[in-house]
Amino acid sequence: MNAPAILRDVWLAAAAELESAEIDDARFEAEVLLRHATGLTRAQLYASLTDEIDPAAQQRFQTALAERTTRKPLAYITGTREFYRLEFRVTPDVLIPRPESELLVDAALDHMRQARIRTAQVADVGAGSGAVGIALARHRRGVQLVCSDVSRDALLVARDNAQRILRRPRAEFVQGDLLTPLPGPFHCVVANLPYIPEERIDDLEPEVSEHEPRIALTPGTSGTELILRLITQLPSRLHPNGIAVLEIDPGQEGAIAAAAQQMLPNAAVDILDDISQRPRAIRIVAG
Ligand SMILES: C[S@@+](CC[C@H](N)C(=O)[O-])C[C@H]1O[C@@H](n2cnc3c(N)ncnc32)[C@H](O)[C@@H]1O
Repeated sequence: MNAPAILRDVWLAAAAELESAEIDDARFEAEVLLRHATGLTRAQLYASLTDEIDPAAQQRFQTALAERTTRKPLAYITGTREFYRLEFRVTPDVLIPRPESELLVDAALDHMRQARIRTAQVADVGAGSGAVGIALARHRRGVQLVCSDVSRDALLVARDNAQRILRRPRAEFVQGDLLTPLPGPFHCVVANLPYIPEERIDDLEPEVSEHEPRIALTPGTSGTELILRLITQLPSRLHPNGIAVLEIDPGQEGAIAAAAQQMLPNAAVDILDDISQRPRAIRIVAG
């Protein structure tokens, strides 16, 4: 075991180690790992920088640091990730929720407010940690949420998040393919399904390609397979004036919007950009 050292020195040494492992934002990540190991809040850490670190905390910190230098994602080490200002539990069984997926929540909430849909049946298809559907249900009373995923382990994580984040039990969890196992029709369908073409996976950062579940990343060779299949299920599953918001990879918008318009000729279909001004979702409002 290392000799006790003061928190500031431990932090700075860790930041240098993470930087050598080519991790961006090394100083910030070292701070997060240090707070995780010590249980200190940010304010407490800053107020105790010249204190000695507790030996047990130092041991926990060195273990976490070693894991991070193998490029295991920070969120899998700390077990949490913030999404839509809510704290979600994440494990290696689920994709780590991405900030760009908050667009799906915004679009669905806006529509439900404008259309004055008060009691809404909502499906989160390919729910993973449940981040999208649970954030939506947390911000809109009267939402009855159903989450689907092919991964049973992912659904266990989603269930746990729903129990902690939603005040009342307003969510169900169903294992299966897309909308097939779900009741319906729905006022709202949100889906961030896997959309990365298989051949691109190995070019991604090791945090993604080596640690996130492959089933959460890619549906096959083109990347659009699952989203297009979900679109074929929508006509019988959306209420009139119901909304579907589907996350996409930039470049897929033309093919997916065209397929949506063909399957739902009376629907209003448009493309939503993320904060980097890149096409990130298809919005379909049933006619
Ligand atoms: C990109 S992850 C998104 C997770 C979560 N919605 C989020 O935004 O963080 C895609 C999820 O879809 C699930 N999935 C893959 N194929 C599926 C299918 N055919 N039907 C339902 N879910 C599927 C994966 O297991 C994974 O949890």
